[in-house]
Amino acid sequence: MYARAAAATTTALLAIAASGCPTAPARAAEIARPLVIAHRGASAYAPENTLAAVDKAAGLGFDWVENDVQRTKDGTLVVIHDETLKRTTDVEELYPDRAPWRVRDFTAAEIARLDAGSWFGAAYAGEHVPTLEQYMRRVSHHGQKLVLEIKNPRLYPGIEHQTLKLLDRAGWLAPDHVRDRLVVQSFSAASVRAVHVLRPEVKTGFLGTPSAAELPAYSEFADQINASHRSITGDYVSTLHSFQGPHGAPLEIFTWTVNDAPGARRVAGFRVDGIITNFPDVVEAALDG
Ligand code: G3P
Ligand code: CA
Repeated sequence: MYARAAAATTTALLAIAASGCPTAPARAAEIARPLVIAHRGASAYAPENTLAAVDKAAGLGFDWVENDVQRTKDGTLVVIHDETLKRTTDVEELYPDRAPWRVRDFTAAEIARLDAGSWFGAAYAGEHVPTLEQYMRRVSHHGQKLVLEIKNPRLYPGIEHQTLKLLDRAGWLAPDHVRDRLVVQSFSAASVRAVHVLRPEVKTGFLGTPSAAELPAYSEFADQINASHRSITGDYVSTLHSFQGPHGAPLEIFTWTVNDAPGARRVAGFRVDGIITNFPDVVEAALDG
């Protein structure tokens, strides 16, 4: 995988030399410490994608959190990672005849009855799958910053518009928020592009590792290329930084999911802009070290 990324980087550098289009390589002068982003909330310590998980991130002192949004049968946006409710709730007990327990096959009222905490630990019994509205209230309360992933957008036509509308109502599309408190990301390039077209001021991220030759196309609508830590090299990161995103700044990378100190030090050495982790405290300590 590293060899492939390195080869792609070489291709990109040749393309850069040929086109002259990327930004100046002056970035090396200002090496910033990567941001630490609590993945699905502080999901090593509290059940993922619950209010308890963002509370835990806040309690540990972390203001950046990442969470996933999907949609119920009756059109409510909810914060949950999997396409089904099975792994992170007691849906099989409450609704034994409703296999495969897809999020989109349940109403918001049905989902509100589920326990989304007991699977993780008895202390979290009674946690719920939050609606995005409840969730935004909580991250606003904590003064947190958000990387919001639109999950499985192919299943939810129009989810980009609906999500942006809710974020707007919650005050999250105000200039101070879009400047440095919000990123909307997806594994679907079409979804990321849709967010950019609908609200060009919003910072966006594409989840994946496009080849370096593909980066110019992504840089038209994505400010970040958020690649798995397993798929990147220092060369890939510096090539990525040499391109400008739609807002005129160098492309950024928040890499995922880095859960140990050696991994954190490795990607920090690549000069990534952010590290998405289930263990924000471990990553923070590694960066301190
Ligand atoms: O933010 C990166 C990460 O969340 C992407 O993968 O499957 O955990 O949503 P996943
Ligand atoms: Ca995610």
